[in-house]
Amino acid sequence: MSAAPAKRLPEPPVLDMDPFSDDNIRDPYRFHTALRETAPVVYIEKYAMYAVGRYDEVKTVMSDYHRFTSEGGIGMSDIRKPGAWRTPSPITEVDPPRHTAVRGALTKVLSPIVIRKWREHFSAEAEALADRVVARGEVDGVKELAEAFVLKVFPDVLGVDMPRENFIAIGDMNFNQIGPNNENLRHSLEKVEPILEQYQKGFQRESMLPGGFGEKIYAAEDAGDFAPGTAGLQVRSFLRAGVDTTIAGIGHTLNLLARNPDQWARCVADPSKVRGAFEEGIRLHSPSQVMFRTTTGEQELSGFMLAGDIKVGNFMGAANRDPRKFDDPDSFDIERDAAGVHLALGTGPHICIGQMIARLEAECILGALARRVERIEPTGEPEYRLVNTLRTLDRLPIRLVRRN
Ligand code: HEM
Repeated sequence: MSAAPAKRLPEPPVLDMDPFSDDNIRDPYRFHTALRETAPVVYIEKYAMYAVGRYDEVKTVMSDYHRFTSEGGIGMSDIRKPGAWRTPSPITEVDPPRHTAVRGALTKVLSPIVIRKWREHFSAEAEALADRVVARGEVDGVKELAEAFVLKVFPDVLGVDMPRENFIAIGDMNFNQIGPNNENLRHSLEKVEPILEQYQKGFQRESMLPGGFGEKIYAAEDAGDFAPGTAGLQVRSFLRAGVDTTIAGIGHTLNLLARNPDQWARCVADPSKVRGAFEEGIRLHSPSQVMFRTTTGEQELSGFMLAGDIKVGNFMGAANRDPRKFDDPDSFDIERDAAGVHLALGTGPHICIGQMIARLEAECILGALARRVERIEPTGEPEYRLVNTLRTLDRLPIRLVRRN
């Protein structure tokens, strides 16, 4: 008796929504619910891509590099094919074992011992900034707090000689490039055009300031830790990944604290609780909303068959509110203890290498506020910036009411 032919798994259902429409960028949560509740994996025709938004599938696709490679790029366009609108990164866009060696060399430069030494500098800057903003009372929590702080301390430790205002334009361009080639990307390319030369000079050896970790990356290349000629691209990865994300995370956390006074009261009573607040801020409004992988051939995923060589969008922002994983997922609970569980900083071999830095920045600035401010009161509606794959505030009007 011959065996019955194996039943072919179905293709993922089509989800007829555009994750990158202006409305869905400003408010992605209706799309996230549809993505999670339609199926474990869906097909989005407009971009000829698959998408996952449930916690388990996002974790699988981001970790299982044999089946879902980063080598086609972490953006929507395949960097190996003609017409790509992104240039490859030598850290984020290589799989193990090549990635393991590069990551090991970078981890030496950015070890926990190195980062701990920055605490004093971050803390002094945070205390001074907090004094200034609390004295003013009514401030824009994005421009005057999150941006002012991160744009001071991060370039200081990176040790890069580049005008600080350029960092925002570069970050927007990067996070637009991860998504589709649309109006948002065109606008940000136009903004970067006049500073392109300065930007490209910004990650060259001669722009590294003494004592920064940028300089150490070049020294590691000289010592043979990186392939010759790649140190500049490593520095560029930090310029592109380390600024906007942290600003966004601090901005979202401030916004949530302003709208949840009971949670802020806990931070005032014990300023170390700002750490839990930041984890909730980036879980609920994940700065990096989506990162891509490419199927390395036909792949089975949660009962569906995916075609080979197709992009898969991992919507970390959706996974971080998956009720299958988190109780009461939409609530802001600074005691939730979700660090290391939520996927805002990625997962698997490419998990964020700057996470300790981001956490240290957030702890210093939010802690400095908790020691001075009784209440954070919203004085207007927050505004979001239109960037394809970055969830970030552009404006957050708040009043800081001083502690007695
Ligand atoms: C709240 C702030 C941050 C968020 C939300 C964030 C998010 C992420 C995510 C989701 C990934 C994984 C990418 C993937 O798997 O394809 C990642 C990787 C990375 N992040 Fe962050 N990041 C933050 C802060 C930083 C900072 C401060 C730095 C710089 C020091 C940084 C540098 C990097 C680099 C270089 C990688 C690539 C690591 C690798 O491929 O092995 N990030 N980040």
